[in-house]
Amino acid sequence: MIRAIVLAAGKGTRMKSATPKVLHELCGRPMLWYVLRSLRDAGVEEIVVVTNDELQPRIAEFGVRGIVQKEQLGTGHAVKVALDELESASGQVLIAYGDMPLVHTDVYRSVLMQLDGNALAMVTARMPLPSNFGRVIRNGDSVDRIVEVRDATPEELLVDEMNAGIYAYDEAQLRESVAGLRNDNAQQEYYLTDTIADLVRGGQNVVPVPVDDHMHVLGVNDRTELAVARRELNRRICEQHMRDGVTIIDPETTYLEPELTIGRDVVLYPNTSISRLSEIGNASVIGPNARLSAAKTGSHVTIRESVILDSSIGSGVTIGPFAHLRNETVLEDGVHVGNFVEVKNSHLGAGVKAGHLTYLGDAEIGENTNVGAGTITCNYDGVRKNKTTIGRDAFIGSNTSLVAPVTVGDGALTGASAVVTKDVPAGGRVVGNPARPLPAKQTQL
Ligand code: UD1
Ligand code: CA
Repeated sequence: MIRAIVLAAGKGTRMKSATPKVLHELCGRPMLWYVLRSLRDAGVEEIVVVTNDELQPRIAEFGVRGIVQKEQLGTGHAVKVALDELESASGQVLIAYGDMPLVHTDVYRSVLMQLDGNALAMVTARMPLPSNFGRVIRNGDSVDRIVEVRDATPEELLVDEMNAGIYAYDEAQLRESVAGLRNDNAQQEYYLTDTIADLVRGGQNVVPVPVDDHMHVLGVNDRTELAVARRELNRRICEQHMRDGVTIIDPETTYLEPELTIGRDVVLYPNTSISRLSEIGNASVIGPNARLSAAKTGSHVTIRESVILDSSIGSGVTIGPFAHLRNETVLEDGVHVGNFVEVKNSHLGAGVKAGHLTYLGDAEIGENTNVGAGTITCNYDGVRKNKTTIGRDAFIGSNTSLVAPVTVGDGALTGASAVVTKDVPAGGRVVGNPARPLPAKQTQL
């Protein structure tokens, strides 16, 4: 059995926040989300998170068990609190920190692999000095002990191999060693790191597992480190999409999240953010200056300088510059929504064009209808939102106001500045305020 204990009870005071530290987000997910994902990918079967009173009520969202550590008496104490709540089992226990979102699943995997019958394997990293990390004091190929900065001698402080804080233990050995921890040190804490010297004294071998880039074990303690971690994660996500066939003009200003689907030959221009499980079809062009959230698009779509929220877009659609789609809007294939057009909770049939300065709310518009510049659906009567229905091949003149609820039939026409308060039949032509049918002879013109 492979278990993991994730330490996350620390108060995170340097975040200066009402939000528990590990719930702070980077690239659209809480820090803790990344840690749990990497652990699961590494084959961990059971995960418990050591929490505090603020974090505990939120832990169920992550599908793991939380165990409250009432007082933060040190990393060794945190592990003991977790072990006391778990039935003993034979197997391996990974210890990870909830505030290390950049740890690759490979790091967890390799520390588990290198445990290989020993009592303990631990991740180490070379880092520039000075550093607040505990120093790894070696005895050849094995670790002798870890010394915390506050307990270290000047010579020990010169050691540049650090304890990352990620360990794979044999569970039985861990239980025994943790039970004997004492807090007679500078911080009067129960140090998990004291288990190392203890195991060595008992004749066990402690295997160091160096990582080549200390960035991978970056902990987030304040908001500047959060920004550093976000940038690194975003870089990794962009890199993955580029390897999968997406052109990203400037990864530094392209803001992506995990779990996006972006097709081949998509081009992302700068200052674009894509979030919440959005899906972008092949050969689409997004940005510059676009924000997509829960957006789904077909292929060969162009979206420039626009905001697309909770909407679904067919193939060959062109949007922007400066359009805003929201609230379950659906655009079928070949639609064009242009400059300064807002579309909310509406369905636009294939080939509909709304090129300029328009608001379409709660509207259903049939195929190939042209919506003139300045058209407004007056969907709100002060009490409720009402629906506008326009048929196919209709021509809505510039500055038409459609006072909902109202229906304009297939092939109908409204004149410029018409205020449509009554239904217009298929093929009908209306003008004026309030809009009236054109006399038959004028219809000939
Ligand atoms: C610890 C290690 C140090 C290592 C460093 C890597 C010890 C004694 N020292 O340092 O060798 O280089 O991690 O980052 O283990 N936590 C709890 N409960 C507690 C105390 C801590 O859950 O009572 C959690 C924190 O939320 C954090 C993690 O454990 O996620 C590490 O705690 P932190 O205080 O940052 O580590 P150090 O003790 O400074
Ligand atoms: Ca500490």
